[in-house]
Amino acid sequence: MRFYLTTAIDYVNSRPHLGQAYEKVSADVIARYKRGCGVDTYFLMGNDEHSQNVYKKAREAGLDPLAYCAEMEHVFRERWAELTVSFDDFIRTTEPRHRAAVQKLAQRSYEAGDIYEGTYEGWYCVSCEAFRQEKDLVDGKCPFHPTLTPEWIREKNYFFRLSKYRDRLLAHFEANPGFLQPDVRRNEILRLLEAGLDDISMSRAGQAWGIPLPFAPENVVYVWFDALINYASAVGYGTDDARFAQWWPADLHIIGKDITRFHTVVWPAMLWSAGVEPPRQVFGHGWINYGGQRMSKTLGTSVDPADLVAKFGPDPARLYLTKEIAFGNDGDFTWERYEERYNADLANNLGNLVSRVTAMVHKYRGGTAKPAGSGGALATVVSGAAARYHGAMGRLALHEGIAAAFDIVTAANGFVAEQAPWALAKDPQAADRLDAVLFEVSEAVRAAATLLLPVMPTAAAELLRRLGDATPAAEVRLDRDGGWRNSGPRTLRTGSAMWPRTDLAAAEAPAIVTTKNETTVDETTPAPKALVENTAPKAPAEDTVAPTPAERIVIDDFMKVELRAAKILAAEAVPKSKKLIRLSVDVGEAEPRTIVAGIAEGYQPADLPGRMIAIVANLKPAKLMGIESNGMVLAASPEGGAPILVSVDERVAPGTRVR
Ligand code: MSP
Repeated sequence: MRFYLTTAIDYVNSRPHLGQAYEKVSADVIARYKRGCGVDTYFLMGNDEHSQNVYKKAREAGLDPLAYCAEMEHVFRERWAELTVSFDDFIRTTEPRHRAAVQKLAQRSYEAGDIYEGTYEGWYCVSCEAFRQEKDLVDGKCPFHPTLTPEWIREKNYFFRLSKYRDRLLAHFEANPGFLQPDVRRNEILRLLEAGLDDISMSRAGQAWGIPLPFAPENVVYVWFDALINYASAVGYGTDDARFAQWWPADLHIIGKDITRFHTVVWPAMLWSAGVEPPRQVFGHGWINYGGQRMSKTLGTSVDPADLVAKFGPDPARLYLTKEIAFGNDGDFTWERYEERYNADLANNLGNLVSRVTAMVHKYRGGTAKPAGSGGALATVVSGAAARYHGAMGRLALHEGIAAAFDIVTAANGFVAEQAPWALAKDPQAADRLDAVLFEVSEAVRAAATLLLPVMPTAAAELLRRLGDATPAAEVRLDRDGGWRNSGPRTLRTGSAMWPRTDLAAAEAPAIVTTKNETTVDETTPAPKALVENTAPKAPAEDTVAPTPAERIVIDDFMKVELRAAKILAAEAVPKSKKLIRLSVDVGEAEPRTIVAGIAEGYQPADLPGRMIAIVANLKPAKLMGIESNGMVLAASPEGGAPILVSVDERVAPGTRVR
């Protein structure tokens, strides 16, 4: 079985942007998934160089266009390498293999009588590199480039007889419902076909930048007619017939929704005209916006994918792009949401689970988890999730597939909380149960990590290493290894936190410059709201006049106190004490902590589990009534009244720093 997968080739008149990165990463997840299922996969990407804008950009930079394109190739390749995009081939439309293919296809089509001479008079959007009809314009502007006025051109062109293929296209769409996905795109194109097709220009006159028409070399091939052929030239059309026979037709073209007409109307017709089969499937993904707005450099709403990678590394960037945007729909990016998802999925869910399981297996079983029994509740969760994962990936619902893998992680975290291995460890009678629980959790994380290999290749390989899976990542088979494996003891490895939590407010906070006794805010960066408000002295509310502190402290002193959000898991009265309650709290660490708190006058132990509170996490342990307390809870202590716990919003994950 083989699978030939391509993405759109990018215009190189500007550096790679997030929209292009979104497409490449999504396609890479598909390529890695296919390879992981043992399918012989060929994944093509590349650059589209014969555009007028590219030529203009090169000239503005004082460079020869080829030299400019070569520089941009570096820039694009570097970006894709940072995002760990694993293409097998990278084509440039100025390469000889591509020129040979374009000339062959144009010649074939000419000989078939599908290319004829005429005059084009009408609009042309240089940014789209597309001829536009009056009816396509919105307020006289191109719908995709509302700030640019299209050019009116009149020139001698060669035309391609697209109209001839309308009925065949309709029949092809009818016979192959999966040819264009998702369905909204298919319906758009069907409506367009039903309305009828005009012939299109396939050459440009008076331009030097492009591939000469073999039958009229004073004209160059129109950039779209040229670009589409890249999919065929990369696998040998015009240069290597055997190779072409091996890889053509392409199994899947991944492209953006703005260029589905070129790929599902023009391209199949060009291929038929030259006697070649059309591609098997085209998927037109949605648009990625920034904060609900179209990405645009001029509006300041453009995001550089390099910044995304710089923030948390490639895997969180890949995860956001493919899990948070339903593949096929439009999606949105904001830095806040990116950070929120990083904390939720990686720091709190997966990261927390892997640190816990590795720490517990080390603490209670010297680092080795052994299979015990045939697997319990989590085995069922894994089988169900793996089936949903494969079903979704097969339908290209990448977001659903990845979410299914995360369902395992969430279930495993719930299982740990419910089974409380730390309690089992204290009961010698529960040794077998503890073995089973530890194995079950490590096996669930291993299966989830395996299923996450296509989306987070580096991190998932590290997870597998920590979980003692010795199979080299390249040999992992998703269909086999992504399910429950009840075999063999494994030695788990501990390591530093893979995804430390971050705090958006802190990340964006201005630099705080501390001198001996004062704190100033660096005025070059806008201060977050809370800080600005705090700098203005506030009148205290009438009934709560705060005492004047004897001595003020500098912020460094405050920051020495590590306040963290914690969740109360269990509470019991300390025998013989009127004031003390012994709490077991989750602070996002491998194990819960015991804290002895003087709050019995205000609370019944039974009312406490489930509450989110704030604790001082870095106090030296102290013994209270013979119990070691590891931290201190924060409570308001009214004069003569019972203590009232400081509550933390339930959306905050245990362990989040409070400051
Ligand atoms: N060169 C043509 C494609 C030729 S394919 C034979 C082109 N290039 S592009 O650089 O403008 O776009 C490359 C891909 O990125 C296209 O599939 C396009 O749809 C996609 N995207 C560009 N901006 C995008 C977003 N904001 N969001 C998602 N994808 C976007 O078109």
